[in-house]
Amino acid sequence: MEQFNIKVLHSKLIPEIIRKDIVSLCNRAYEKDMQPILETFVDATHVLGYYNDLLVCHALWVTRYLQAGTNPMMRTAYVEAVATDAPYRRRGFASAIMKYTIREVQDHELAALSPFSVEYYERLGWERWSGPLFIRTKEDKLMPCLDDEEVMIYRLSQTPILDLNAPLSAEWREGELW
Ligand SMILES: CC(C)(COP(=O)(O)OP(=O)(O)OC[C@H]1O[C@@H](n2cnc3c(N)ncnc32)[C@H](O)[C@@H]1OP(=O)(O)O)[C@@H](O)C(=O)NCCC(=O)NCCS
Repeated sequence: MEQFNIKVLHSKLIPEIIRKDIVSLCNRAYEKDMQPILETFVDATHVLGYYNDLLVCHALWVTRYLQAGTNPMMRTAYVEAVATDAPYRRRGFASAIMKYTIREVQDHELAALSPFSVEYYERLGWERWSGPLFIRTKEDKLMPCLDDEEVMIYRLSQTPILDLNAPLSAEWREGELW
């Protein structure tokens, strides 16, 4: 019987053969070499979607610390590298992976991501952050982000009351800042 199964694996425990499968799936989906960016996510948790034992869908999350205005930092599951292999798209696999991810990150205070399409994630319950975006530099300064940068959040059971119009900052990181 055809079936879709989801597995969760921490990056430190991923066998080399699966790591290669993830990189090649992401390369095909994004039509570019994703290895350099994937390598920046050293402490990532991967969510792997298998269709008949074939890896066809992927997402990962890393923990970041987001801050709305001057509120306390929120331990945030930041989702990256959402990808479904082209022949397996429009079957709800990425949606299933995203819903599964939300269940898995309930020990965080927030989930967030930088969307390819706001509409896609809105359908799954994500909300667009309307306030200005900043990156906290190593010197603890706030660096404004470009206007075309977009961030969406998902409220988890531990998410505090949020004003989506407030400034939102994340710590600086290597690779893509948001
Ligand atoms: C985006 C992606 C992960 C969706 O995977 P999927 O398994 O097909 O997703 P689902 O089946 O859950 O949802 C499919 C829906 O997403 C919509 N969708 C796909 N790409 C879209 C886009 N660029 N903009 C808006 N909606 C999009 C489809 O129209 C479809 O909706 P419909 O069936 O009602 O028409 C996949 O198309 C992909 O890997 N794309 C390339 C990589 C990428 O852009 N990743 C996202 C980075 S945040």
